[in-house]
Amino acid sequence: MTLVDGKTELYGIIGNPVRHSLSPVMQNAAFAVMGMNKLYVPMEAPDLRNAMIGLRALGFKGVSVTVPHKENVLAFLDEIDPLAEKMGAVNTLLLRQDSVGQTIVCGFNTDWLGANAALAAEHLDLQKSRVLIAGAGGSAKAVAFGLVQAGAEVVITNRTTANGEALASWLNCEFIPLADLAWLNADVLINTTSVGMEPDADGIIIPPTMLSKFTVVMDIVYAPLNTRLLREAKAAGCRTIDGLAMLVYQGVEQFKIWTGKTAPELVMRSALEEELRRRAGCSSAGNCGGTDPSACRKKL
Ligand code: ATR
Repeated sequence: MTLVDGKTELYGIIGNPVRHSLSPVMQNAAFAVMGMNKLYVPMEAPDLRNAMIGLRALGFKGVSVTVPHKENVLAFLDEIDPLAEKMGAVNTLLLRQDSVGQTIVCGFNTDWLGANAALAAEHLDLQKSRVLIAGAGGSAKAVAFGLVQAGAEVVITNRTTANGEALASWLNCEFIPLADLAWLNADVLINTTSVGMEPDADGIIIPPTMLSKFTVVMDIVYAPLNTRLLREAKAAGCRTIDGLAMLVYQGVEQFKIWTGKTAPELVMRSALEEELRRRAGCSSAGNCGGTDPSACRKKL
């Protein structure tokens, strides 16, 4: 546990709601293992304008931004990373002092980097990959944007055609309705919908019989961690990437922006697994033996 004193540098996450965010656990574990006198706190912020004034006034150094502020926060920035601007969404703020002591707030987006890094860790050549993304919400937008940046061929599928077509047209890529996937071939499937999340853990976004055509299947659902989609994909011979991967890698990129240092990736992942076990009510004597959070099925 970091000792909080007069020199502790403040970091945190703003959103509404934000109390269940896993980011504090992950970032505080990273700061602690690196011996950094920094603290990361969740801050429920219904009023974004006032929150931004507060962050500047209180000398915060870095902040994560989550729903519903990722787009509206652009109006409160002094500088923005060109790719975050292109995406129209920011999930990371860096606050620094200029030469006359004025606070400058810079906006970045690490959500899309997170998905790319999770796939790159599986040694996928994204420039040669065809990726089917299920979903058309905020998460799908970040994942799809990143893959297009990396040169992948992206295909969107979604329950509501209008939403899927809107995302596909923004990215200039193909849309295929969920009902018409039988003839589609792709290397990677990424589920960005909430299908399969507790309490509907039996849900699966596409029929299991279709999974064998993918080399890699990734799910962004992490409650449960071992979703039905991932279990069926493994059984069909696919390599799988679980829902903590994107969360960890977007956090790894935030840590780099805030500290300039390489993040302790494994420590961050372990801290998240431990927290998921804790929230699922497992103990070392629990049904997963305390070693396999993917075995947990309880509602978080
Ligand atoms: P997020 O910010 O996590 O992406 P979101 O913006 O609410 O969340 O998007 C949720 C996505 O999951 C949408 O693509 C949604 O499909 P619709 O556009 O049809 O609403 C999809 N989704 C949610 N529940 C679903 C379900 N039961 N079956 C299929 N798709 C579902």
